[in-house]
Amino acid sequence: MPGLTIGDTLPDLEVETTHGKIKLHDYVSKSNFTIIFSHPGDFTPVCTTELGAMAAYADKFAERGVQLLGLSADDVSSHERWIKDIEAYNNGSKVTYPIAADPQRQIIKELNMVDPDEKDSSGQQVPSRALHIVGPDKKIKLSFLYPASTGRNMDEVVRVLDSLQRASQHKVATPANWKPGDKVVISPGVSSDEAKQMFPQGFESVNLPSNKDYLRFTNVD
Ligand code: BEZ
Repeated sequence: MPGLTIGDTLPDLEVETTHGKIKLHDYVSKSNFTIIFSHPGDFTPVCTTELGAMAAYADKFAERGVQLLGLSADDVSSHERWIKDIEAYNNGSKVTYPIAADPQRQIIKELNMVDPDEKDSSGQQVPSRALHIVGPDKKIKLSFLYPASTGRNMDEVVRVLDSLQRASQHKVATPANWKPGDKVVISPGVSSDEAKQMFPQGFESVNLPSNKDYLRFTNVD
């Protein structure tokens, strides 16, 4: 994927939002993680469900020390009118997070959020359903890139945050279909001697035909 991706530093742009001007580096340094997510346009169906779902998950994000920043190309006054629809459709869940405007399409280019296939009615580029999770060190930790046709699964957003938090606190990674409470795997860079020190709760190595001792499960919850 060309453009901004995992490990890169978020550009320090100043963006207009429904909460006033925000400097991205100041904003992301205030939380464990910041989710910056774009959507193709205001007053469109899937986007209305997505932004409402993000509002309904506000407590889950707050519990994890995670803040949000939405973004579309429409201007702030359009966002403000559209928020009333989002809240009405989503049983009154309040959109408490800021939504950035990008009428010049500058931000979506710099944040690698341009949809290559979609254009608006005046032929201008529109954002994809991109989502970056950014750490307080201003680096991109994880990105999703979905087309306009496919709304994101907010449970998956929460699940990957839980995975990122485990990995940032311990030398572990989370296996396929992991969910909180399941065992995690010890990172491959940790030797078994180091693992004995790091994981006094113990770990189980899986016997594999290669006889290589790399698939080691432990609990960190
Ligand atoms: C939607 O949000 O439903 C949508 C937006 C742009 C293109 C297709 C779908």
